[in-house]
Amino acid sequence: MGQNSESVTHVVSENNSGDEVFELLAKQSGICRAALIDITWFTESMAAGKPLEIENRHRLQVNRTADRSATDIPVSQYACQRRTTLNNRNNLFTNALKILAENAEFCENEGRNLAFARASSILKSLPYRVTKMDDLQGIPSLGEHSKKVIKEILEDGNCGEVEKLIQNERYQTLKRFTSIFGVGVKTADKWYREGLRTLHELKASKIKLTKEQEAGLLYYEDLIVPVTMAEADSIRKIVEEAVHRFLPAAVVKLTGGFRRGKESGHDVDLLITHQDEGKEQGLLHQVINWMAVQGMILYDDITDNRDQKWKTKEPELFDHFAKCYLIFKLQKDMVNVVDLNTSGDHDSLAVNEAKEMGLGGQAGTCEHAGCASVKDKDWKAIRVDLVVAPFSQYAYALLGWTGSRLFERDLRRYAKHFKHMSLSSHSLFDNEQKRFLMAATEEEIFAHLGLDYIPPQERNA
Ligand code: CTP
Ligand code: MN
Ligand code: MN
Repeated sequence: MGQNSESVTHVVSENNSGDEVFELLAKQSGICRAALIDITWFTESMAAGKPLEIENRHRLQVNRTADRSATDIPVSQYACQRRTTLNNRNNLFTNALKILAENAEFCENEGRNLAFARASSILKSLPYRVTKMDDLQGIPSLGEHSKKVIKEILEDGNCGEVEKLIQNERYQTLKRFTSIFGVGVKTADKWYREGLRTLHELKASKIKLTKEQEAGLLYYEDLIVPVTMAEADSIRKIVEEAVHRFLPAAVVKLTGGFRRGKESGHDVDLLITHQDEGKEQGLLHQVINWMAVQGMILYDDITDNRDQKWKTKEPELFDHFAKCYLIFKLQKDMVNVVDLNTSGDHDSLAVNEAKEMGLGGQAGTCEHAGCASVKDKDWKAIRVDLVVAPFSQYAYALLGWTGSRLFERDLRRYAKHFKHMSLSSHSLFDNEQKRFLMAATEEEIFAHLGLDYIPPQERNA
């Protein structure tokens, strides 16, 4: 390898470790934007007669914990110009910043929420572990407050403000209530101010709940258990089968966190399209009706593209596709090679709450008929988002629904500031040329924006 110019997109290695290749590249040019992949990708691509999409198993593992001086990689303040894998070397800091971001959200302080979220995101993208304040030289998006938190963790191993917060009654209660499907910060805060603290108290209070919240409470214990990749895959296949009954050539694609390589998630995001545009119309209703008859649906909320509900203060983050937020009833025997009772990394607060309610195995305390003891039942309730996109908008929908949220947010911000373009999950509009830019693939969208292509596995901002 002579010149490692910016135009190098793939670096294939047969015998070197990811760390060795990374060091080599860093020495050569000081920049490493190319994908580091194993020889298996090359041989499989040769066999296929075309370059294959890079999968996680093709990637060389880079575990560098070397200090920053080894490589001086410029870090962009835009998440869409950074490569953020799931290999986060700065957990200690990002976990603390996440709690502060969450609390800011509970205080409805959007600016502060975004500031902590950005600080956390930038640390996730660093290819080294921060071991001293000097390692943060020249890193953008770190405010004084975030720096103070990092400094304290470096010195004491934890941050006093965060430690206090996780003991805080309001923080705990809002976290508990917002972990219920259908409950946002405003509702959780209202209940808190009315004196409610636990799910028991909420159930006993006779407070009027929406249909969504009722379902959220009914299936609470299942819904707080992370969805595994195997479960997501089964659901994708089941939905695909249902879709094919009505449109045999339709495509059902797994998006969201699972497409970014996550092993678990809070829901399953599925994007549906059909090559003959127009054929997808009415599909969602047909599929939902059929699945309901099969007993696969515990709750559904279909949003037609005509009567779109605006549930957020950030309408630009939402779209007008026909979609359905549902709670799916997954038969456990439909899932291959998984242990459905793994407790994984889920939120201990919510799980403790479930235990406290007597939902954690001991049967009997739940008054709802559908809420059987988890261990005995042969199914699991799982949140699923179904989205139907017309084919001409599919690439934009795929990009928009793959996330992460901060990655999407920064793509839009970048498009606006540097290209005078408006990006959404439907389209890209050039505000100067006054025209829409078509794209059949995500690669084409990045090209329109003048950005290096970032694969899904590196969008974990
Ligand atoms: N999204 C959206 N419109 C919504 C809901 C979500 O465009 N009404 C997008 C988000 O911007 C995000 C993606 O869909 O990029 C996935 O959202 P979500 O499922 O909330 O997050 P994940 O990244 O999949 O994380 P998790 O594993 O926790 O589900
Ligand atoms: Mn998701
Ligand atoms: Mn989702």
